[in-house]
Amino acid sequence: MADSSVEIIEGCRLPVLRKNQENEDEWPLAEILSVKDIPGRKLYYVHYIDFNKRLDEWVTPDRLDMKKLQFPKKEAKTPTKNGLPGSRPSSPERDVVRMLFLGYFKSAYNIRVYLMCKRKAESVSLATQVTAATPVPSLPSSAEASQASVYPAMRDPSFSIKSREEHEQLTSLTTNGTTRRLIPSQPGRKRKNCGGTDEMVKVFQNNNPRCSTVFLPPGEDSQDSSDGIPSAPRMTGSLVSDRSHDDIVTRMKNIDCIELGRHRLKPWYFSPYPQELTTLPILYLCEFCLKYLKSLKCLQRHLVRAVLGLNKIINTLPTYSQNLCLLAKCFLDHKTLYYDTDPFLFYVMTEYDSKGFHIVGYFSKEKESTEDYNVACILTLPPYQRRGYGKLLIEFSYELSKVEGKTGTPEKPLSDLGLLSYRSYWSQTILEILMNLKSENGERPQITINEISEITSVKKEDVISTLQYLNLINYYKGQYILNLSEDIVEGHERAMQKRHLRIDPKCLHFTPKDWSKRGKW
Ligand code: ACO
Repeated sequence: MADSSVEIIEGCRLPVLRKNQENEDEWPLAEILSVKDIPGRKLYYVHYIDFNKRLDEWVTPDRLDMKKLQFPKKEAKTPTKNGLPGSRPSSPERDVVRMLFLGYFKSAYNIRVYLMCKRKAESVSLATQVTAATPVPSLPSSAEASQASVYPAMRDPSFSIKSREEHEQLTSLTTNGTTRRLIPSQPGRKRKNCGGTDEMVKVFQNNNPRCSTVFLPPGEDSQDSSDGIPSAPRMTGSLVSDRSHDDIVTRMKNIDCIELGRHRLKPWYFSPYPQELTTLPILYLCEFCLKYLKSLKCLQRHLVRAVLGLNKIINTLPTYSQNLCLLAKCFLDHKTLYYDTDPFLFYVMTEYDSKGFHIVGYFSKEKESTEDYNVACILTLPPYQRRGYGKLLIEFSYELSKVEGKTGTPEKPLSDLGLLSYRSYWSQTILEILMNLKSENGERPQITINEISEITSVKKEDVISTLQYLNLINYYKGQYILNLSEDIVEGHERAMQKRHLRIDPKCLHFTPKDWSKRGKW
């Protein structure tokens, strides 16, 4: 359909043919983000307006409806965000991780030198004392990485392999929701967010009282020459030096295919893997340490070396969690990516078979959150999606919050799929409580929003938004009333019958750590 006499340029809009979920043809309006010449024809990278970016794709000219071509309006370029990604202030460490992404450092020594210079400069200009560089912990080997089912990949300087093992004991979780090892003791529960006035809610069912209710590189050796991956700085896609270029580069998927264990994954979004790897038809990842390699041969060599214990564990930035974030970025678009993984814990979920532990998904969590976030990013890898693992991870995150004696909420914004999963979790959790409420003395059962929040560790705002989403709240004679219809109750019971993967809180043995008491991570 493309008219060769008219040149389609970036920024043009026109209808583009695609298949919808029912495999029918549709012609949504799309924007041309990039054009490339391949021998004999052109290809166009299109973003379907109002569709999620994961549907963006390269299309052939015959899919373009040239009759409705709109050229871009001449207006001032959309200003790109100033400064650094995210709202966090810059720090030398964060700069380092970003620069690592860009391939600026060749060794841990370079990083130390950079940090020293940067800190010196800061201490001079700010005339303040700057703390010494955070000591760099040991990295997990692939063997270690494969040991725990769910563990926080901690980046604590004091987090030796021994203390990691201890931590594994605390929170080791398998995908059937059981934990593997037990350690006694639970701290007293102390609620932080449930003070203040509270809305009393009466629960009705059919008006009757009812008891219801970054990363980069495996510094280790993925950059070493033996793997054949160049260690030179990336020349494009810079997140630091050229923010105007950043926009268009990061808007496009850059990796075609990732082989991870027995799965081949098609990334949904841009992820800042080294530029040199973006031209490969397949990027190979070690499924245990998530190191990226340019060929199957390199991967096989890496695995043999891992079995022989020959892969170096070097004292550099947190490799495993950075590799995990790089992989996760392929499927997470809407969030600012923090390149510094130090402030986060990573809870990794795996499936186990005779070959070992295979990563299924993970969530990260800030060690200290001023906004009560109990999840920063959450991901189920595409081959495992829609099997209940996402909700299992969410449930686990709230079980941790319960032990911490806090209410929590996921970091915003949520993605479309994140919102679906959280809504589903919140709805089921709250309905379970409402439907189990007992009426006393023939009175309608009563519960407050704060009580729901306290029992579930779901933040009050999320409780309220869920009740509103379920359309349960009515205001009657000066009181809020929850009216549970037959439909809601039946729908909930059906959904719960299908929810097989659950966390057994009795098996969670975890002692929360007060990160604020530590001078540094
Ligand atoms: N279409 C429609 N509904 C969906 C879809 C989908 N593609 N995916 C999940 N859902 C619904 C499910 O139907 C289910 O609800 P139900 O039980 O009421 O039917 C609910 O979401 C959860 O399903 P799970 O199988 O438990 O979740 P899954 O393992 O698929 O993981 C997740 C959900 C983590 C959001 C996954 O889709 C993912 O990794 N997406 C990419 C990354 C992402 O967007 N993460 C969330 C970002 S927000 C944040 O990080 C705080």
